[in-house]
Amino acid sequence: MPLSKHENVFYRLTQDDKKLPLTSSSSDLQSTVMGVSPSITSYRDASPGMDSTFSDSSAIEMNNSIVHRWTHNQSIICLACSSKYGLLFCGTQDSYILIFDLYTFQKLGQIKAHTGSVLCLHLAKCQTIMFSGSSDSLVKIWNIKIVQSGRAQRQVILELTHTIYSPVDIGDIFSIAWIDSSKTILFGSQNASISFAHLGKTKHEDKANLSSLPSVRYDRFFDSTSSGSNVSGSTTPIPESSSEEGDDRCQILMASKLIEIPSTNIISYAHNGYVYAMDTICDIDSQKSLLGGTIAEEFNDIILSGGGDGMVKIWGFKENKITLLRSLNNMEPVLSMLTKEEEDCCSLYCGLANGVVNLWDLSTFQLVRSFETVKGDVNCLSLSDTFLFVGTQEGICKKPAVNDNCVRWLPTNTACLALCQFKPGDVSYLISASMDNTVTLWNVNMITKSCTLAKSDKSDVSTTEMIEVLKKMVSFPTVSKQPEKYMEQSRKCASFIRLLLKKLGAVSSVLLPVPNANPVILATFKANSSKPSNSNKVPRILWYGHYDVIEADHIESWDSNPWEITPTNGYLYGRGVSDNKGPLLSAIYAVADLYKSKNLQCDAIFLIEGEEEAGSYGFQDIVTANKATIGDIDWVMLSNSYWLDDNVPCLNYGLRGVVAANVEVWSDKPDRHSGVDGGVSREPTIDLVNVLSKLTDDSGKVRIPEFYSTVKELGEEERSLYQQIIQKVQGAEVHELLTKWRMPSLTLHKVHVSGPGNSTVIPHAATATLSVRIVPTQDIEEVKKSLVSFILQSFKNLHTENHIKIEITHEAEPWLADTKNAAYKILYKNLQKIWGIEPIFIREGGSIPSIRFLEKTFDCEAAHLPTGQSSDNAHLSNERLRITNMLKAKEILEETLNELPCKGSNI
Ligand code: BES
Ligand code: MN
Repeated sequence: MPLSKHENVFYRLTQDDKKLPLTSSSSDLQSTVMGVSPSITSYRDASPGMDSTFSDSSAIEMNNSIVHRWTHNQSIICLACSSKYGLLFCGTQDSYILIFDLYTFQKLGQIKAHTGSVLCLHLAKCQTIMFSGSSDSLVKIWNIKIVQSGRAQRQVILELTHTIYSPVDIGDIFSIAWIDSSKTILFGSQNASISFAHLGKTKHEDKANLSSLPSVRYDRFFDSTSSGSNVSGSTTPIPESSSEEGDDRCQILMASKLIEIPSTNIISYAHNGYVYAMDTICDIDSQKSLLGGTIAEEFNDIILSGGGDGMVKIWGFKENKITLLRSLNNMEPVLSMLTKEEEDCCSLYCGLANGVVNLWDLSTFQLVRSFETVKGDVNCLSLSDTFLFVGTQEGICKKPAVNDNCVRWLPTNTACLALCQFKPGDVSYLISASMDNTVTLWNVNMITKSCTLAKSDKSDVSTTEMIEVLKKMVSFPTVSKQPEKYMEQSRKCASFIRLLLKKLGAVSSVLLPVPNANPVILATFKANSSKPSNSNKVPRILWYGHYDVIEADHIESWDSNPWEITPTNGYLYGRGVSDNKGPLLSAIYAVADLYKSKNLQCDAIFLIEGEEEAGSYGFQDIVTANKATIGDIDWVMLSNSYWLDDNVPCLNYGLRGVVAANVEVWSDKPDRHSGVDGGVSREPTIDLVNVLSKLTDDSGKVRIPEFYSTVKELGEEERSLYQQIIQKVQGAEVHELLTKWRMPSLTLHKVHVSGPGNSTVIPHAATATLSVRIVPTQDIEEVKKSLVSFILQSFKNLHTENHIKIEITHEAEPWLADTKNAAYKILYKNLQKIWGIEPIFIREGGSIPSIRFLEKTFDCEAAHLPTGQSSDNAHLSNERLRITNMLKAKEILEETLNELPCKGSNI
């Protein structure tokens, strides 16, 4: 059966040497592809638009969805989140503090912070000072410095300012509290003590001595009977692997102040067990009358500690003195604690070792409620406006603030070790660290339009929205090459995009039906900026993209479901994220943001097809038919290729073309048995292999006459461009690039035989699929003609009784741009500005059928901005896109769209 929908030309040669060009009939296809309905609203459930998208439960589960997940090679034990700066700090079992950017989801770095596991992290209110406590018995204080050079990725530096140690062996440090007003740090440890130190000018600094550090002292708490010990145990083990990085401790220590806790500041038996949790109530003025009547009145601050002895102790703090005010007995070890300070009451949640959470009213010191979660430890607690989250040995439970139904919630099978909230605006996100070495950012609210998780510098529309829309788009398997399986889904995706564009402000947004194929979306945004444009005319930019994708049939070679976006370690995984749904959304949201802020200075026309991966079937006819509606165009722009590596931003200025063909050889006889009939007649498979073998010589060169003869000689200027590239891109080789970008090539993709395919059958027919990539100096018609006649001639030379048929399945013209034109100049400048890296100009070996066609149709030039990285795996399994690349492409386009001049004008 001839391959579907293309305007195919068959060349048939039979023994009697008659050559007859035929036009294919698409009747084979009509049984599977129904007539195209011109109605836009015919897919009711597929036209949710923005509002209903976010509440459409049948679509993606927006509730409880994973916004992002990071992995490490050891457990992450504690978390600290700076909502103000959008930063997440993670303390790890192997002594590191990891830093993640919550705006871009990129890992910003990691430092080996301690020599033992990092057991607790605490951020001061200003969110630029952080405290870490470790199983190395040290507390360290870090100054958080955020460095932003231009619009490039920001850098975070953790500067160690203080290292605090105790003169006695206190074991692991489990909990830290900080009193801002008196600059006092308190910490609870494994030997049941609470220690505190005032920072600033103190006497105890003088005493501090490197040789007194716990790691240097002979008399280690857990190796001996130490003076301060009333518990037995062992320090949290650090995995072997963590020692590999050498010991940078001393170097850091030298740079920081060393503080020894004065013995008067150690409450040796604060509890009768490990001091797992600490918290403070610092705004006493508003709270103190609530605290058990008047007992807090004379103190500046209140400290709470929770211990393995089941007690919560309430301490008053004033002038470097700590006084026990009250004890609350929970009967089970208190592993986690959380105070909730409200206008008219102050309450305390305690997470216990038996899966119970106790709620205390601190004004009466009464136990108000006890609720059970699961069996085992309640390791951590976190409170949002609407929920209490409980991190347990079995995962996470949540309890609505308004009732007491505590439900098992997140499907984590491993223990949750730490929880925290990220509140970038009105909406809060939950962050959890689990035993399986992952940290997850959860969207626990219904997403609303007002939610702004990750604001890049200039954007109004949130990244979350863009990613949620991408999630939805990826959930449609829009495989254009398999219409029989996916036509409805492709149609739904097209409707979704049409409505999205309309909601985002397009004055018109329609689906253009393509006979027997997926529709084209055409949408126009009108300039709405009050800024006067440079000329009288508003430039009109046509953005070309495609919503169809290549198949993901070998699902076993994917690490995640290709039709469900999986956000991991700064990347989004899923079929089509890079080719081409993600980059398409960067462009859509660039325009939408400009439009929303009334700052769009050009008309933006989106032309988005659903057949690119099938050779852009029907696109040219539809565009030609709608040329007047589309109107005059100044620039065509697109983003449908990748960087040369993972680091250097690129501009693409050239693509190869392609001619793809099927060659079939068949006999008049049926499939036969090779033992019974072998040798009697010429075999189609052997004939085909013979013909194919003539296509290349022994060295692999293509033997089609004149195949290489039109290729342009490499000039000096061009050669130097290649030299520059290999200097910047590791592993790139001039020879390889020249071959991929400037030379034609021939690929044999597969050979298919008829019959059951076992090794006793003579197939009656054999088909080869091949394609030729061509370069700008080659004429596509000439290439087609010479390919066909070369194959036919080779076949003729075989003098066989079998028949041959050649079918051109799709074709694309090559494309080459002028890198000195206004669009490339502007793009270059903006790429450099926004990435902070000098970009490179590259060509590509791949093809996009529509570019050259659009240039010719609208008599204008195209400019091509690759979004993704070379490791994106487009067309392969585990396709992915780095979130930063998607965000930065959007920023680059926002700037560029407003700077492009009308065609013909110089800048
Ligand atoms: N994004 C690719 C084109 C591409 C591939 C650019 C590699 C740069 C490097 C596009 O979606 C694609 O797959 N094109 C097809 C076109 C064909 C079906 C006519 C190709 O190149 O095979
Ligand atoms: Mn592709």
